[in-house]
Amino acid sequence: MVEIAPSILSADFTRLGAEIEAVERAGASYIHVDVMDGHFVPNLTIGPFIVEWVAKATHLPIDAHLMIENPDEFIGAFARAGAAMISVHPEATYHLQRTLNFIRQEGCKAGVVLNPATPLAMIEEVLGDIDYVLLMSVNPGFGGQKFIPSSIGKLRRLRELIRSAAPGVKIEIDGGIGPDNAGQVVAAGAEILVAGSAIFGKPNPSEALRDLLRAASNPALERASA
Ligand code: DX5
Ligand code: ZN
Repeated sequence: MVEIAPSILSADFTRLGAEIEAVERAGASYIHVDVMDGHFVPNLTIGPFIVEWVAKATHLPIDAHLMIENPDEFIGAFARAGAAMISVHPEATYHLQRTLNFIRQEGCKAGVVLNPATPLAMIEEVLGDIDYVLLMSVNPGFGGQKFIPSSIGKLRRLRELIRSAAPGVKIEIDGGIGPDNAGQVVAAGAEILVAGSAIFGKPNPSEALRDLLRAASNPALERASA
């Protein structure tokens, strides 16, 4: 069963509550929140304060993607604000295993995010400490970027690694996902699809979410039509 995590980065923030309710009603499984600090990535976005308001607007689990340096300093704040899942980039912390433990101690699911140039080997020693891997199919920092095609091969290798070494760990993919490639990434192993511009960038986000879900649920069909 494929799950969709709409990224509010592309939402209309003048009506954030309504945007979130619309995707929840249309079948979203999580709300993806992109947290950027202007240092780890060249953009500045959302802090725990906004996450608190997001939590009031939805029953869905909040998936906090931390693109920040020193994530340890903020894990508690995001957990208290209502995040159910927290993921970190290995490049942003000196002691990844400790950071992942902090996330779990706060009662959240722990994830590691792999940038396009970050090798899969970065997660090998922490497979027992994570609940999911977030594979970046663009370089983090902005919504609306183009999907990097080599992500498909990496996704397949990630699926094999997880299948053999940590079958409970989920695979989430983030960046440039839309109805045109959703079937392909699901066929390659993705279980949770993050999508920002393909949902909130469209005139009717609920309809866009349903289109994405339909494309994602028919990987064979997609392959045949590709
Ligand atoms: C990029 C973020 C993504 C982004 C995805 O740094 O991690 O979650 O919002 O946006 P789209 O789906 O537009 O590529
Ligand atoms: Zn993200």
